[in-house]
Amino acid sequence: MDKLKQLSSDQLESFNTEYVNGELWDAVVNFIDRDFITGEFTFLDIGGGNGMFTDRILAHYPKSHAILLDNAKNLIEINKENPRKKIILDSVENLETYLSVNHVDIVFINWVLHHLVSNTYRQTRQNIENTLKVIRSHRDVHYLAIFENMYNGIWFDNLPSRLIFQLTSFKPAKMLMKRMGANTAGVGVSFLSMKKWMSIFDALFGRGSYQRVDFGLWNVPLIRKLFLHIKTIHMSLFWINNNSSPE
Ligand SMILES: C[S@@+](CC[C@H](N)C(=O)[O-])C[C@H]1O[C@@H](n2cnc3c(N)ncnc32)[C@H](O)[C@@H]1O
Repeated sequence: MDKLKQLSSDQLESFNTEYVNGELWDAVVNFIDRDFITGEFTFLDIGGGNGMFTDRILAHYPKSHAILLDNAKNLIEINKENPRKKIILDSVENLETYLSVNHVDIVFINWVLHHLVSNTYRQTRQNIENTLKVIRSHRDVHYLAIFENMYNGIWFDNLPSRLIFQLTSFKPAKMLMKRMGANTAGVGVSFLSMKKWMSIFDALFGRGSYQRVDFGLWNVPLIRKLFLHIKTIHMSLFWINNNSSPE
């Protein structure tokens, strides 16, 4: 995998929040309850940051065990200790090491794939696919859960993704992008359209290998929509069966 860029600690600090709550949390619980009836499982939370999501799963499922992996020192440090939680400060670039020595039933990678940024859009897309391939190769991992933001274009489906990547990774525009609200200014971010995410998952895990839950459309100011060629933005959860045979 190409060397990944990392956000500054100030930028990472903005991730010190709880993302999975309300209907997002309910969607996760529905899948777990259906597929792990006994509530006994081990999960790996890649990019688990401050640990709020991991802690909530551990509290809800007292027979579960967690491994949290994140390369942000400032977020790892604020994690609460728990005898059922192993905390690892490292990058997803070394994922293979951890999957080969730990048995994991569910991998969560929530709002992380779009941060696996290298110098070019092409390399960045490769990073996303290579990470998914590592998980795919571990067939003892039963499910992969992914929350992502879907940026869908007006005429050209994935154009917002390319525009946002170019603008946020263009260092001279860092201050301007920051003022426009891009937390990833100067580093880059790779949001994809829903069709693009689905084509990646179809190709790697097989058509019909996942279920998707879509959440409400975001209110995006018209000027931003026009500037970035955005038709709609919404969040989706993909619950992928890692053992399905590709069609
Ligand atoms: C938007 S936050 C999501 C946090 C968490 N998954 C959640 O849903 O609450 C992105 C997280 O990915 C982590 N991250 C980004 N690049 C990473 C990498 N190469 N290896 C491990 N973690 C990474 C960041 O440090 C941050 O905690």
